Amino acid sequence: MIVCRTIPELRTAIRNGKAPLLANESTVGFVPTMGFLHEGHASLMRQSAEENGLSVLSIFVNPLQFGPNEDFERYPRNEERDLAIAEQNGIDIVFIPSVEVMYPTKPLTKVLVDQVTARLCGASRPGHFDGVGTVVSKLFHLVQPDRAYFGMKDAQQVAVIQQMTDDLNFPVSIIPCPIVREPDGLALSSRNVYLSAEQRSQAVVLSQSLKQAEKWVKETDITAAELVARVKAMIGEAQLADIDYVEWLQYPSLQATEPEAPINTASECYILALAVKFGSTRLIDNHLFGTFGG
Ligand code: PAF
Repeated sequence: MIVCRTIPELRTAIRNGKAPLLANESTVGFVPTMGFLHEGHASLMRQSAEENGLSVLSIFVNPLQFGPNEDFERYPRNEERDLAIAEQNGIDIVFIPSVEVMYPTKPLTKVLVDQVTARLCGASRPGHFDGVGTVVSKLFHLVQPDRAYFGMKDAQQVAVIQQMTDDLNFPVSIIPCPIVREPDGLALSSRNVYLSAEQRSQAVVLSQSLKQAEKWVKETDITAAELVARVKAMIGEAQLADIDYVEWLQYPSLQATEPEAPINTASECYILALAVKFGSTRLIDNHLFGTFGG
């Protein structure tokens, strides 16, 4: 596994790595991350290694996507452990740039994606997706992957990146990958380490409420407004939970639906998306209803 810290190093490693792929008609897979890798990231790396001749991982805590009062400084980091996990999961090249390498001067160019960023985390974290769109564009230009792998825990991020990729004709397929969960249902996240024992035990309410919502949608003629109200009530029973949003939207357009119409998932895809704070830790989770990409 080659570790690159500068752009010239990465370009050389990609060029050298790509040369043998051409003869085999093989491809480059890319897993962009902010490090502090967990089994969710590992599942993306394994899929990339299975589907491509060369797999590239980036580890970069991108300051552009954090708000002024967010956790950029304290975001968990552990390079040594991350490199071991990358190596064990089939990664060939790791790109770990510093902030100075990625942004030697303040970037004056931003990639802004409209509409799909209007709700959910786009509304709660102003500027977040401008930072994501900008850094992912830069990384796509640097790595030039054929496939890029993203976890569906960040379902809005997947929708934003797919839209950006279509709009700007990046020659890459965006591969959405399933959410990986703890045995009790909590979605894996690098931020789970911030939770106290009591917050951690109550955080299971996110996945439990999504499971319960699945039952309500399957078994009753429930409306979107009623579903959101019931899910909010269920999460509200966890004393330490502070709801940021609970929303039912079309997916991947992330446009609103008619709140008083009975839910019908036969022909369209919808998302039930949650963001809940436990102390200063904000967790997100979601479930898709209907067929996505089918
Ligand atoms: O999902 C993440 O970890 C980040 O948003 C990403 C895609 C690596 C961009 O910084």
